[in-house]
Amino acid sequence: MIGVFDSGFGGLTVLASLLRTLPRYNYLFLADSARAPYGARSADVVNEFTLEAVEWLFDQGCTLVVLACNTASARALRNIQQLHLPRHRPDRRLLGVVRPSVEALAGLPPGAVALPGETAPSAAEGFVVVLGTESTIASDSYGIELRKLAPGLTLAQQACPLWAPLVEAGELDGPGTEWFLRRALEPFLPPHRVPQRMLLGCTHYPLLLPALRRIVPPEVELLAQGEIVATRLADWMARHPEQEQRLTRGGGRRFATTDDPDWFAARGERLLGQPIRAERVRLK
Ligand code: DGL
Repeated sequence: MIGVFDSGFGGLTVLASLLRTLPRYNYLFLADSARAPYGARSADVVNEFTLEAVEWLFDQGCTLVVLACNTASARALRNIQQLHLPRHRPDRRLLGVVRPSVEALAGLPPGAVALPGETAPSAAEGFVVVLGTESTIASDSYGIELRKLAPGLTLAQQACPLWAPLVEAGELDGPGTEWFLRRALEPFLPPHRVPQRMLLGCTHYPLLLPALRRIVPPEVELLAQGEIVATRLADWMARHPEQEQRLTRGGGRRFATTDDPDWFAARGERLLGQPIRAERVRLK
């Protein structure tokens, strides 16, 4: 079974793409809605909450867990991969969204490894922007990965503190939402230097795409993470057949949340376009 974790229901934007690209596996989606949003929380707290969530997914039988949440990927992934898994869960795998997103942002193929002093031709130069929560941007995780993979690219990172709460509140459009979108985007709109690509580095932001598309100049490519993560996960599986073979199949889908399951199911159904039943769980 593949576990997919997000702080809230926004991670269903990633799950939707996974279900389209890799439909035959069983999935368990967990949203820590009771403690979302994570975006303004400290690194220690995000780390602690994420570890609890990942451990719960492992206990349920997930052999592979994807952190769909950027904040969790940025703050907790490395710690759990390097300190927790080798000691406590050596047979399980945990993947995040930062590395595959950076590959896409740099125009590199899946799994690309830039040798020292080398960059892919398409990533040689240019200007790209990452939009994310305060915690994701403060971690500089995107900057660290991008400097390794495509040092010729100029990167700007912009925290958009109110975007995820707006989405959680269902405020996807309208003059109030547009004001907050423009406020964060202003440094990247004419007359300023306009980037080639902007990464929506937060699970919730794809829901703002129609409003964003009206504000951002048409020549700017807006990258949502669902397709990126799904395509690159398929590639990862092809390169790790021993892990792929452990995944249970049958098209099972389970949804769990730490808060009201009916609230979650109502939003989830709209996002996935199919009826869902959610269960409430406690992480500790
Ligand atoms: N899931 C979070 C992320 O992708 C956004 C919402 C939050 O702040 O918890 O960064």
